[in-house]
Amino acid sequence: MCLRAGSATIEVTVLAPDLFRVGIFPDGRTVNYYSEAVVERNWDTGVVRIEEGDEQLTIITAEASAHIALNTLRLSFSDKHGRIFAADDPELGMGWFPESPTEKNVDMVNPGAILGTPVRVYKQHLPGEHYFGCGERTGDLDKTGSHQLFWNIDPPRGHTALQNNLYVSIPFTLVLDDGRAWGLFLDSTGQVEFDLAREDHERSWFEVAHGDLVYYVFCGPTPREVVARYTDLTGHTPLPPFWSLGNGQSRFSYETAEEVRSLARTFRERDIPCDTIYLDIDTLDGYRVFTWDQTRFPDPAGLFAELRDLGFHIVSIVDAGVKVDEQFSIYTEGRERDLYCKTVQGTDYENAVWPGVCVFPDFTNPEARRWWGEKHQALLGVGVAGIWSDMNEPALFIPLNSTMPAEVVHPGGGRTRLHLQVHNAYGSLMVQSAREGLLQLRPEQRPFIITRAGYAGVQRHALVWTGDNSSTWEHLALSLPQLQNLGLSGVSWCGVDIGGFYGDATGELMARWTELGIFQAFCRNHSEKQTLRQEPWVFGEPYESVCREMLKLRQRLLPYLYSLFDEAHRTGAPVLRPLFWAYPADTTTYALDDQVLYGDTLLIAPILRPGHEYRSVYIPAGTWFHYWSGERIDGPAHILAHAPLGQPALYVRANTALPLWPATSYVDPAASDLLTLLLFPAEGSGQAMLYEDAGDGYEYQQGVYARRTITCAVEANEIRVSISAQEGSFVSPRQRARVELHAMSTSPQSVRIDEQEVAWQYHPDQRCVVLDLPAIADEQELVLCLEKEA
Ligand code: NOJ
Repeated sequence: MCLRAGSATIEVTVLAPDLFRVGIFPDGRTVNYYSEAVVERNWDTGVVRIEEGDEQLTIITAEASAHIALNTLRLSFSDKHGRIFAADDPELGMGWFPESPTEKNVDMVNPGAILGTPVRVYKQHLPGEHYFGCGERTGDLDKTGSHQLFWNIDPPRGHTALQNNLYVSIPFTLVLDDGRAWGLFLDSTGQVEFDLAREDHERSWFEVAHGDLVYYVFCGPTPREVVARYTDLTGHTPLPPFWSLGNGQSRFSYETAEEVRSLARTFRERDIPCDTIYLDIDTLDGYRVFTWDQTRFPDPAGLFAELRDLGFHIVSIVDAGVKVDEQFSIYTEGRERDLYCKTVQGTDYENAVWPGVCVFPDFTNPEARRWWGEKHQALLGVGVAGIWSDMNEPALFIPLNSTMPAEVVHPGGGRTRLHLQVHNAYGSLMVQSAREGLLQLRPEQRPFIITRAGYAGVQRHALVWTGDNSSTWEHLALSLPQLQNLGLSGVSWCGVDIGGFYGDATGELMARWTELGIFQAFCRNHSEKQTLRQEPWVFGEPYESVCREMLKLRQRLLPYLYSLFDEAHRTGAPVLRPLFWAYPADTTTYALDDQVLYGDTLLIAPILRPGHEYRSVYIPAGTWFHYWSGERIDGPAHILAHAPLGQPALYVRANTALPLWPATSYVDPAASDLLTLLLFPAEGSGQAMLYEDAGDGYEYQQGVYARRTITCAVEANEIRVSISAQEGSFVSPRQRARVELHAMSTSPQSVRIDEQEVAWQYHPDQRCVVLDLPAIADEQELVLCLEKEA
């Protein structure tokens, strides 16, 4: 539907029955939906009807309606039950500043053109509405009453919860109102601001600094559906290589080959799981990208082969800045091919970062992206397994903590734009280049790329780690709402530096942080130069043992985590979920940001203060069991949990199976042929998913995977566990299964598998029934019936 209001064009488009796009193009600007976030999709919109009234048009889909009032022009939406959401404020609606060339908005690269002035849309804020998401933020989970600025920066050291914008900008909010969810995504890579009922509790506004305002309305009605459609629109998290889900160890920097070797050996000697070692900038020759310091790393290929034999993968850093140095071939090649960002005068834009004076590839130019992607061969060629893209806001040292000036020019291979127009996309485009490069260079392997900066849709290219946090209890607590909001914004694969980057950790902080960190989708311990070392053993006992046991628990849970990745990949569901994800109608959960769901099966309530062994926990509706003691809790309930060091408050949802492997010192999916299914049965029923595949490569796209549903139903005197027939043709190395039923006060009287009586073990001290299934055969359904005491 295209409307004209004076010199403005307003378009409302149905993209899917639950997704509308609104474009506002003021002052005669051309309609343009070019986007760095949106992936091409052609959804079936279903039947769309248009009703015309005197001063009103209504576009009706099977799920929702867009109501367009014509005098004055206002938009609102309603679901199929007539419930209104995303309604323009009746008084202020949408608007823009009249265009006239000023110092700020003249387009210096396209003479005569102007970039546009701020465009803003005001929406009503209904009394029950709470805003979440907004990408990578500090502060609370609930963003109602806040102002959100979207402009990627490298924030000052030791930022607090008052720091508004960080390294990643995702101008998307998920709104919950008494159990009903909807979402709004404003697609602009320039500066964006949201005022979420802060200036006026009856209104919110959404603004782009210049140009056009394009926003998408997601109709939900559940958080799951909003995020599913948002990730359909902006892209899905790829399946990771399995090894990358293990534990990672990093430091700024492990400085010599010998230091890296000794680090690796220590992990193995101390029996602490570790899969990945991160190499920071001191491995480079004078901080030049894609190089090695010949003295400190004389034989990287030999070193990495040795480490591979010990089960380690190497991830190596790549910064955005390229050192200006006539002897440095990457610099001269990029200059000769004219692939760097420019000044308005047409020279290469230069500023200082780690290597000294640098230039910056223009990642908006497809040719620059291809060139940069190819350069990763220098790292892959010596056996580097993954890429760590850093300083890609881009971060600059002059002035300190700054980013690229607005007037820097991105020639873009013909689509010339100023930096202020593309700023927030710079990091995403850099990792798009890395991912495409890795796929070209090593097509049979899944790329592993981590990024600090990004824009909406960054999840297609890389995982996000949240940059330079601090080794403080405040930052441990901040990590929970931060990761939950990132997850709600499409970035399921994310994590903070465990133990904190700046400042000195203590043994207790390290141990408590590890108790939570093992549940992050991305698990890595990293710290800054000159701070106390924070490898898991440095603080001695009891902290080392706590870290070891926690990291082993992560290893055991990997089949569960991988299944969550399958879900994230298909549906956008985050690995770490706010409680309202599963309980949107329970408004108590809306402000709960010191506990989190890990998938739908585990509830984690970490200790976030020193010296504390107890904390209050909210157990939502249903039956839950304390992981360590098997104590049963029926929610909803507020309880005081005892969580001594090494036993964080973890709860398992009744009747949902947790798939486990034996703990190994590094990820080795073929290490055992045994899959354990851990269950806490209680009256009622539950369901869990198990996904397996080769753990790397793309055969799963041809159906070579195994997905099963495991159900557990408890009725009268019977517990029935069913493992469904397998979807997909993958032959899992785990052909045996052990079912462990916990919190069982007595032994069953009999156990049958497919009507055949079988033997079982009962461990009264652990209140546990153990049942070994000789085989989980393809396409076979196993039914286990246990009779409880009468
Ligand atoms: C900044 C990154 O955020 C940090 O993790 C890294 O250690 C330093 N750059 C040095 O490369």
